Amino acid sequence: MTFSRRDFVKTSVLGAVAAGVGAKVAMPEAQAEKGSQGPVSPSGSPKRPIIICANNGYNYVEAAYTFLKGGGDTLEAGIRVVKGPEDDPNDDSVGLGGLPNEEGVVELDACCMHGPTRRAGSVGAVRNIKNVSMVCRAVMEHTGHVMLVGEGAERFAVDMGFPRENLLTDRSRKIWMLWKQFNSDRDWWGPGIADPHWRPPATETKPQAEVWRDRIQQLQERAADLGIEPEFRLAAVRRVLFPPTGTIHCSVLNEKGEMSGITTTSGLAFKLPGRCGDSPIIGAGCYTDQDIGSAGATGAGEENIKVAGAHTIVENMRHGMSPLEAGMDALKRIVRNYNGDMNKLRFMDMTYYILRKDGAYASVCLWEGYSAGHPHKFAVHDGTLRAEVATPLLKGYSQEWPPFPPIPEDLKKDSEYLK
Ligand code: GLY
Repeated sequence: MTFSRRDFVKTSVLGAVAAGVGAKVAMPEAQAEKGSQGPVSPSGSPKRPIIICANNGYNYVEAAYTFLKGGGDTLEAGIRVVKGPEDDPNDDSVGLGGLPNEEGVVELDACCMHGPTRRAGSVGAVRNIKNVSMVCRAVMEHTGHVMLVGEGAERFAVDMGFPRENLLTDRSRKIWMLWKQFNSDRDWWGPGIADPHWRPPATETKPQAEVWRDRIQQLQERAADLGIEPEFRLAAVRRVLFPPTGTIHCSVLNEKGEMSGITTTSGLAFKLPGRCGDSPIIGAGCYTDQDIGSAGATGAGEENIKVAGAHTIVENMRHGMSPLEAGMDALKRIVRNYNGDMNKLRFMDMTYYILRKDGAYASVCLWEGYSAGHPHKFAVHDGTLRAEVATPLLKGYSQEWPPFPPIPEDLKKDSEYLK
């Protein structure tokens, strides 16, 4: 991978990383609320009420906005958005149908913050309960704790009346089987990408194009044997080669200036059992400060935990940065954690969703998207529902698909992923 394809969008980024980040002069909250620094919002003057979320929530925003406009609670509105993908068996990034851990068990994470009452709730590694967005709110409302995990969280959910159900759909089970078969000599044990001794996979003697062509072909054949639908085979192969961390976050602001945030996920596909990503971590996957704003994340959980992304962003706004600047600063911290090493950074991605108390918003991402023509998008509703393209820090795409050569034309046909 040459650096020319992955140039920084702004050449000043490395300089900023080297110089340290977040060195901003604090300013009074009232001034921060007016948003006197930086761009207000990608689409003009801020408005409220407003809902911003990851794009997989798009179909559920209109109804949530109507509810919010009618005086509904901000956290309830956010949950109405994220519950849609949680209930959808075809969204394999959250709730029912989420991709499972390495043992084939779906484990879900979620957290929320309710601005008006300044409360928080969280659950991690929950099995058999679909709507963990509602379970984390129940932790907040019905316990003196903030976070419950594992079996205790599941038992609490059942006590609260949530039904136990099998979350592994047939489609997700088949993708997991494909992953197991492909990775029978590999797993998640051993040092990770953050280890100083980690090296990119060794170059094979065959040209890369041939290696990847063979690998994809082989996986497609296995996918067919497993009964994965032809139009979904390439998407399944992609998930096996590059386990996704899909998630949904939603931040909500009402007319009165009340705010809430909610994030829910099935986490990193094929993870070790018990692994929690950033989504259940208050301050990483979600953070809402009633005085300042709300932020949340989708993407590489381990990286986001290390920069406490959502909290960093809200604090940046407290100190006067615009939503865009605040998010870019958090992304630069991730780049700094790898000393700008593109051979590592290209294997991760991160998107932040940012909403300031005055209604100004932004979404920023580490890379432009997963492949050319598929930029990261987010949904926003401030009276008009739309999908907007997130602003990338780095030029190029994470996790090349396929990693080095262009995908052979005959493998492209009927690919749902490439649509
Ligand atoms: N951001 C979701 C995860 O890493 O689990």
